[in-house]
Amino acid sequence: MTQNNFDWFMDQFYRLTGVDLREYKRQQMERRLTSLRDRRGFSTFEEYIHAVSRDSDLLAELVDRMTINVSEFFRNEVRWETLVQRVLPKIYSGSSLKIWSAACSTGQEPYTILMALSSKVALPSISLLATDIDDRALSIATAGEYQAELVKGIPPEILSKFFKKTDSGQFRVETNLRERITFRKHNLLSDTYPSELDLIVCRNVLIYFTDEAKAQIYQKFARSLRKGGVLFLGSTEQIFHPEEIGLRQIEPFFYQKG
Ligand SMILES: C[S@@+](CC[C@H](N)C(=O)[O-])C[C@H]1O[C@@H](n2cnc3c(N)ncnc32)[C@H](O)[C@@H]1O
Repeated sequence: MTQNNFDWFMDQFYRLTGVDLREYKRQQMERRLTSLRDRRGFSTFEEYIHAVSRDSDLLAELVDRMTINVSEFFRNEVRWETLVQRVLPKIYSGSSLKIWSAACSTGQEPYTILMALSSKVALPSISLLATDIDDRALSIATAGEYQAELVKGIPPEILSKFFKKTDSGQFRVETNLRERITFRKHNLLSDTYPSELDLIVCRNVLIYFTDEAKAQIYQKFARSLRKGGVLFLGSTEQIFHPEEIGLRQIEPFFYQKG
């Protein structure tokens, strides 16, 4: 495949979905999408994109493949302890909390936010927006039903408090958690960001973007926080010069707006 071939594909993909693949690290993306194309039996991106533009299942599969939806409840557990014990007292004064889980995938992250904070904050005082670019991931998140294998990381007392086992052996998130979350489709690269947030949780997605795209997203996050609000990143992500965008590192992976 020539370089131009994938460039042409990226233009067509943008036309179809509004997602600019040029903002993602190229090598990784090209490898993932070429292997999916091959698996579907197309030898060129031209043939593949023609088929995709006529078949919504193929398109959904392609979007699903370009987004990497791996997630877990209480991912990097120690960070959640830091959030509750050390960061929360800096952002919560007893009234309300406005939170955004950006790139929430299949929902484990926003549900974890609520479960983690529930020991210190009354759930009705939290409003939580959870967004992702991937419709399939969002529909799983909204349904809030998970296989037993996926809830293993949840401490037993929290599991029994916030989940109900269904007849088919799945674990369903209780309504009092689900009703606190607004799930919405949102593209971090092109959509408008919410404002006056106390906390933004955006973990394990910026690693897929180019450095330029990442820098822009950090800047927009900084603007979205209220003064004193905090940005919580994934355990392989960091901002090298946070002061340039008005943030200050207060714990590893936590940045507060000054
Ligand atoms: C690896 S998951 C991370 C899930 C969760 N934040 C966590 O840490 O467990 C990455 C998510 O980023 C989403 N994503 C990728 N590109 C995006 C974009 N441009 N805007 C919003 N979400 C995006 C994917 O759909 C995927 O669900």
